[in-house]
Amino acid sequence: VDQCKLTGNWTNDLGSNMTIGNLSSKGEFTGTYHTAVTSTTQQIKLSPLTGIQHNNTQPIFGFTVNWTFTDSSAVFTGQCFVDKDGKEVLKTMWLLRSDAKSIKDDWNATSVGTNVFTRLPNKME
Ligand code: BTN
Repeated sequence: VDQCKLTGNWTNDLGSNMTIGNLSSKGEFTGTYHTAVTSTTQQIKLSPLTGIQHNNTQPIFGFTVNWTFTDSSAVFTGQCFVDKDGKEVLKTMWLLRSDAKSIKDDWNATSVGTNVFTRLPNKME
């Protein structure tokens, strides 16, 4: 029934996991992101995210992750689909912004890619 409400636990094709909290009446949410990979040599740490989703049945959303273990940020935008087997799939694209030491280094400071997320089964507690 609540399919494609983003609240809950998700995993992507890289093995990264995120948890999204309750949605506000305006569709705003916060959560946490645990990336499986990093372009840095830092030790990966859980990082906060904040975003917003439209209240459609297959909603469009966006969120920002502020990495706590390095100076970069990522923005994700995507849409939730219910596939033909009734499974929720988040099709996203992201931009990852790294810290450029000077304006001359700006040209390669942003990378782009795609991720596909599926819902993680709820842990029984
Ligand atoms: C960094 O290396 O600067 C911070 C971590 C970045 C992780 C990226 S964000 C896009 C892609 N999707 C993931 O789940 N992790 C990587």
